[in-house]
Amino acid sequence: MLTRRRFLHTTGTASVAALAAFHNDGLSRIEAAGRRVEGAVPNEIAADETYWREIQQAFTLDRTIINLNNGGCCPSPRVVHEALKRYLDISNQAPVYHMWQVLEPNIESVRRGLAKEAGCELEELAITRNASEALQIAQLGIDLAPGDEVLTTNQDYGRMLDTWEQRVRRDRIVLTKISFPVPPPSQRDLVERFEKAITPRTKVIHVCHITNLTGHIFPVRQICDIARARGILTIVDGAHAFGHFPFAIRDLQCDYYGTSLHKWLLAPIGTGFLYVRADRIQPTWPLQPAAGSRAANIRKFEEIGTHPAANHNAIAEALVFHQGIGIERRYARMIYLRNRWIDQVKQEPRIKVHTSLREGEAGAIGTVQIVGMKTPEVSGKLWERWRIIATPIVHPEYEGVRVTPNVYTTLDEIDTFAGALKTLARS
Ligand SMILES: Cc1ncc(COP(=O)(O)O)c(C=O)c1O
Repeated sequence: MLTRRRFLHTTGTASVAALAAFHNDGLSRIEAAGRRVEGAVPNEIAADETYWREIQQAFTLDRTIINLNNGGCCPSPRVVHEALKRYLDISNQAPVYHMWQVLEPNIESVRRGLAKEAGCELEELAITRNASEALQIAQLGIDLAPGDEVLTTNQDYGRMLDTWEQRVRRDRIVLTKISFPVPPPSQRDLVERFEKAITPRTKVIHVCHITNLTGHIFPVRQICDIARARGILTIVDGAHAFGHFPFAIRDLQCDYYGTSLHKWLLAPIGTGFLYVRADRIQPTWPLQPAAGSRAANIRKFEEIGTHPAANHNAIAEALVFHQGIGIERRYARMIYLRNRWIDQVKQEPRIKVHTSLREGEAGAIGTVQIVGMKTPEVSGKLWERWRIIATPIVHPEYEGVRVTPNVYTTLDEIDTFAGALKTLARS
């Protein structure tokens, strides 16, 4: 019998396609699992371990650690990682031909797939290397005069706040950061905080779709409607949103939307996208200058010099994997996993959950504090004693460990974490 190893050995360099076929088995298993649960509602599937077992097997993980920091960046499923490696191998044959002539033009298929999944026009979507780059294109590319105001929150992402602070120093704009309690009392309260902080000089509102600190999902549409009615531009930081919970960009009515794809979409590390509303493409300066003839073309934001085609092309495989699960099922599972650990710990007298548990206000991200214990000590002990990775969040107004499971997380891993947290809270 021809073993897999001998087959690869005997076929030599022609084995690239064969390799792909071996590993694509992951996708067919997910399709089969999907067929088995056809007709069931996402909430039922969220608790179907036979289904999720198939998804868990699609990754090549180190199961000796419990990775509950999927908010940082995520491992890709095997099929996506294989696609990335395959495209790198192809590129390296003669990059000027294989990378530039063969692979690079296929970025258009990725654009088409992403635009369809994200709910926008393909001519409004630029592929970037991460959410930071996407958001900074908007933040640094909008013309602002000294004294013009940008309104955001003090729980927006540090790098994005630093970017605005640089414009404060360089362009003498004014940055206003509103504060809000965690969890917020209501979505209306958040909208009102923005509304009250608007002045006649407010030119831009920058807001997270879902915050990285406690995972609160903001009422973005309402905030964008208020801004639009006053001629204020909106930049939405969706680093944690795309691939995590269902939405369509066109329904948000924002001007700019930036996201990472190496987080919840499970695409290769070094991928993201920027949505720019059609009428804002021309007036927005790219981060790296492009020819004037491209001023109204969304691709001007992709003029970044030589870069690997492998990363952005393998996004296509991540989309297929993602769609094999489906966003509704994925979101339902994320809530199921989050609730499973929170339900086990929330009665503990020293435990305080900072994430809203109201419907539609959060997904997988949950931030929890052990009152009377410093958060870096909590995350340190989780690692030392249980090999659990969870991120310590220390904000001037609150602190807690941020816990972010993913589709590959097992119930046993969730329960181990809940047990560890209880042990620490009782110590
Ligand atoms: C809210 C938020 N915005 C932006 C970013 C930046 O994302 P990236 O690392 O993809 O540039 C992050 C990263 O964690 C984030 O959490």
